[in-house]
Amino acid sequence: MRKTSVYLPEETKAALHQVSLRWNRSEAQLIREAIDRLVRSADTEAAPAPPVVPPGLEGPRLIGVGVGPSAPDLITQRAIRVLERADRVFAASTAPDAIARAEAIVRSAAPEVAIDRLPFVITDTPDSRDGCFERAADALLSVLDRGQIAAFITLGDPNAYSTFPELARRVTAKRPGVPITTVPGIMAFQELAAATGTVLAEGDERIDIATMGDDLAPLSAALAKSHSTVILYKGGRRLPEIAAQLSEHDRLVGAVIGELMGLPGGRNGPVAEVADRPASYLATVIVPAQRDDRP
Ligand SMILES: C[S@@+](CC[C@H](N)C(=O)[O-])C[C@H]1O[C@@H](n2cnc3c(N)ncnc32)[C@H](O)[C@@H]1O
Repeated sequence: MRKTSVYLPEETKAALHQVSLRWNRSEAQLIREAIDRLVRSADTEAAPAPPVVPPGLEGPRLIGVGVGPSAPDLITQRAIRVLERADRVFAASTAPDAIARAEAIVRSAAPEVAIDRLPFVITDTPDSRDGCFERAADALLSVLDRGQIAAFITLGDPNAYSTFPELARRVTAKRPGVPITTVPGIMAFQELAAATGTVLAEGDERIDIATMGDDLAPLSAALAKSHSTVILYKGGRRLPEIAAQLSEHDRLVGAVIGELMGLPGGRNGPVAEVADRPASYLATVIVPAQRDDRP
């Protein structure tokens, strides 16, 4: 007897389990019998109509899938459906044996989805960056060239501060006709706002989302606009300097930070309480718009 394995959609798995209980037969037995019947009838019956492919899920296609900020229950149903349907699912990783956050989320939310890691060990040299993206794009092309669906998972949303847009551009440069789509994901700042009871914007207020670079001037300019909520990504390492800027603009009160949200050791709360030392790379800061004039 030869061993084989198949991935089944969740609904089929649940239905199979119920039949196995009702008929008092193992799930493996039922699968064997079903396949046996199908193979025997193939000689006499016409081939069944091909399965109906949901629109937007025909291959070849590259799909960037956002999996949310960390908690497995913040991945969307659409993302799971797409990952279950994709022929191959890829995730960026710093080493072949390093499980990135996005992969860990999918493992918890959809354990049956197999994930291939694409090494992204980007150093400061342009060659290293270019090489990583080119090799990753080639891995995706090996799937797309077979007419299949390749999914690439990212933390949060694939259209915001992720590796997906650049990867997609490189795939388009090599295979201009291949459709590329994305599945949105919940972003870290949304989870932080909910966890800390922080209102992001009301009425005509604005939301200014930025990453923390070497230059503090853009942050200072954003903080000067009191009717804007400022959201800061990638600022963990420079948290003390950020807090000093907030104080200078009289905006420290109400500012919150979420660090390693959904992960062991994760925490969230007022910036003022933890700003005496650097935080993790996975840290998000929200500085709410000033609303002193509200009743
Ligand atoms: C490369 S960006 C990824 C952004 C992602 N595409 C999104 O839509 O949220 C990484 C930054 O996202 C934020 N971030 C992502 N996951 C987080 C988490 N679990 N806790 C806190 N911040 C997080 C941090 O600011 C981190 O520096």
